Amino acid sequence: MKIKRPATLALDEILPKKPILLMGSGPVPIPLEVAAANSIVISHLGETMKQIVSRIKLMGQYVFQTNSSKIFGIAGPSSAAMEMAVTSLLWPGKKALVLNMGTFSARFAELAKGVGAEVTEIFPVGLSPFRVQEVKAALENKQFDVLTLVQGETSCGIKNTELEAIVKLAKSFGVRTIVDAVCTLTTMPCPMDEWGIDILMVGGQKGISAVPGVAMIAFSEETFDYISKREERMPHWCLDPRRAYRFWGLGEYHYTAPVPGLLALHEALRLICEETLEKRFERHLTSSTTLQHCLEVMGLELFTPKEFRLNSVVAIKNPDKVVTKELISFLIKNHQVEISGAFGLDIVRVGQMGEQCRHENIKRTLEAIGAGYEHFGVKLNVYSAMIEFEKSRERESALYLSQMISEETKTSMA
Ligand SMILES: Cc1ncc(COP(=O)(O)O)c(C=O)c1O
Repeated sequence: MKIKRPATLALDEILPKKPILLMGSGPVPIPLEVAAANSIVISHLGETMKQIVSRIKLMGQYVFQTNSSKIFGIAGPSSAAMEMAVTSLLWPGKKALVLNMGTFSARFAELAKGVGAEVTEIFPVGLSPFRVQEVKAALENKQFDVLTLVQGETSCGIKNTELEAIVKLAKSFGVRTIVDAVCTLTTMPCPMDEWGIDILMVGGQKGISAVPGVAMIAFSEETFDYISKREERMPHWCLDPRRAYRFWGLGEYHYTAPVPGLLALHEALRLICEETLEKRFERHLTSSTTLQHCLEVMGLELFTPKEFRLNSVVAIKNPDKVVTKELISFLIKNHQVEISGAFGLDIVRVGQMGEQCRHENIKRTLEAIGAGYEHFGVKLNVYSAMIEFEKSRERESALYLSQMISEETKTSMA
């Protein structure tokens, strides 16, 4: 039987007539430079690619704050990077302690069970991050090989405020750490070497504002050495870091690299390096704080207690009777702004990652959210929120100007 040729549709006929501003939990809008790079295909091997790869590694070392040369790109989502980490360090007989505070930290447990490791999960008390004492109690109870945790749990907007201390504690018990900084890297500090993290990963579609489907992972030299000596077979071929090193370390063939994705990653990392991590952290903090403040002035309640709140994702409690799906559709249809729902929680989430943290994007999002909730009968004070937004913007501009003047004065006096 012949399969009939389908009628075709041009992309223009499928994509929304007006572009949608992506203000959810990722993917996020990308800079023009990243978009342009993502449309180029060059050979995946050869001198030009070698140079691109070495620049990605160099800039990646800055972004991950590591001297390790075992830093790779991955053709796949952040979950593939998580899978590479887990399957490298765990197999039957190995024990993992998973700090589970939601959907993404729980994924580590699934991955670890998948390779036959013995998994112990612990959960924080209520809506809070993990405390060093809780983790210590678990580590004293059993000898683990690996501890996994997220810096930020995107599903509920909580950050692990004691991450550095937890990583150091694990080290003192001889336990290796795998840290997911998928939604946090470049939005807040996560210095891999200084904190002693063994494996750290990020996805393309969040804080670094590259494209979805390309991730990055870094192994400490010591951990990579350990993995290199393992005798058990690797369950994966594509996600075997020793094979990945052929491409990322030796410039040889592993698999055909996602060339446009790597070029896009190059551009995203270059823009981060040009902005500097310090300024990027500051931009995320200021932008997120403004958004949080304005939402509260508007009369909305934020889900996560202030002291544990992520910069990168802000979770809003849905007022009574508002159906998340309907609100999200309304915002897309009437304001061309997309925010996210959540997995099983009655909240909506607004992203504050990379390009999302721009004044015009926050303003549009605040206006849309205000109008959206009011449409569904929630009484809000949108006007006051927008005045607060303008005040914050003026304060930021004044601060920016004074910083520029002081930098220029320093340069002219030098
Ligand atoms: C903290 C965190 N980890 C892992 C993931 C999984 O990312 P991906 O969907 O790219 O596999 C996400 C995605 O939202 C995330 O927020």
